[in-house]
Amino acid sequence: MKDSNSNSNSKPWRPFTANCCSTDQTISFGNFSRCRPSKSDFSKNIAPLPSFRRLSFSDLSRSSSARINEDLAQSFGSDLYDFQLSELRAITQNFSSNFLLGEGGFGTVHKGYVDDNMRQDLKPQAVAVKLLDIEGLQGHREWLAEVIFLGQLRHQNLVKLIGYCCENEERLLVYEFMPRGSLENHLFKRISICLPWGTRLKIAIGAAKGLAFLHGAEKPVIYRDFKTSNILLDSDFNAKLSDFGLAKMGPEGSNTHVTTRVMGTYGYAAPEYVSTGHLTTKSDIYSFGVVLLELLTGRRAMDKTRPKSEQHLVDWAKPYLTSSRRLRCIVDPRLAGQYSVKGAKEMALLALQCVSFNPKDRPRMPAIIETLEALQQLRDMAVSCGQWPGSPKSSRNGLLSVKGRRENGGASGIIWKHSPVASNTKG
Ligand SMILES: Nc1ncnc2c1ncn2[C@@H]1O[C@H](COP(=O)(O)OP(=O)(O)OP(=O)(O)O)[C@@H](O)[C@H]1O
Ligand SMILES: [Mg+2]
Repeated sequence: MKDSNSNSNSKPWRPFTANCCSTDQTISFGNFSRCRPSKSDFSKNIAPLPSFRRLSFSDLSRSSSARINEDLAQSFGSDLYDFQLSELRAITQNFSSNFLLGEGGFGTVHKGYVDDNMRQDLKPQAVAVKLLDIEGLQGHREWLAEVIFLGQLRHQNLVKLIGYCCENEERLLVYEFMPRGSLENHLFKRISICLPWGTRLKIAIGAAKGLAFLHGAEKPVIYRDFKTSNILLDSDFNAKLSDFGLAKMGPEGSNTHVTTRVMGTYGYAAPEYVSTGHLTTKSDIYSFGVVLLELLTGRRAMDKTRPKSEQHLVDWAKPYLTSSRRLRCIVDPRLAGQYSVKGAKEMALLALQCVSFNPKDRPRMPAIIETLEALQQLRDMAVSCGQWPGSPKSSRNGLLSVKGRRENGGASGIIWKHSPVASNTKG
């Protein structure tokens, strides 16, 4: 834990505001003014802490953008910059497609550059500007959750939020620019060069430290959206978590979980969370296990382009994870044997533990980090010890057939990031 917290900012973490900005009671908004939960939804959650007193979600939801800006500025002071839309237009050439970095459920992300004339104290740097799609699901609430969480949480493995913009119905976020983009792009985009084994390990460890920091906070934070597209990489492949729109405060007191509407990304969400809406830090551990499997196999958590029995990565991979002989059949063929056999075996067993059906059987983040760090010393490459079947083609041919696979694609009442539907579960 000590390690994962080592570079964190000493700024005190005041969690009550995050309860206030739960994204769970949401319906799809056509515009900002419709984002108004009833007062009773919030009154029981708002603790009267002085410095963030005005930063409650109910107040902010009912407020004009001018009032929101005033409240955020008062709460975050110089820690976050309050940008004007015209400034962000200027630095992204009016959100030109030439500056497009990517697009997600929230909207588009554009590259920009702030020079030293823009603001006093703001160092010249490249930034990523996320432009909220106001028609998008959860828009305003996710924006606000992100400002409140990332505005307060600082760690070397969390992407840095530089500022925000709230003007009329426009909502934007300004982050440090991550030159190597997302892990998703590196693992799955055809044009990308294969990520070496050592880099995969480094990324897994960095992302694990980000998650450990959240779970190890005085008031634990459940990230709820751990996936390869939310793991961003700097020029040295240091991993940082982004997207805190779905983050949630962990259970307090004697509570074992928080009950929420089910939201997340299909393929990554823990089965008990999907079926009950009960959210714990162990839900994030499940998602971490899924990402480990993606790193190991080079396959997506959910891939509708594959045969039905291979679409759901966890279900497909599980039978291969406990035997070294079987494991080599599913290791990413793009690695072409350039990986540690022992390391892959340990990573597979760790992933298997993380995706255990019973949350109690899943390890905690500090143990995960310890296991992964130990793998960095291993140098037994598969190609040099004759264990690699030879070519990507033969590895695919070696796949075992797996029977009795569970399909849960028909789950209803759940909000998945890219196909939103209403849920009945209590928020
Ligand atoms: N700070 C950043 N620096 C560089 N690129 C970024 C940054 N933030 C986002 N991106 C790029 O923009 C893409 C879209 O990000 P975004 O978070 O909007 O969507 P997503 O993660 O793909 O999906 P979701 O909305 O479900 O989280 C990312 O995959 C990444 O390539
Ligand atoms: Mg994202």
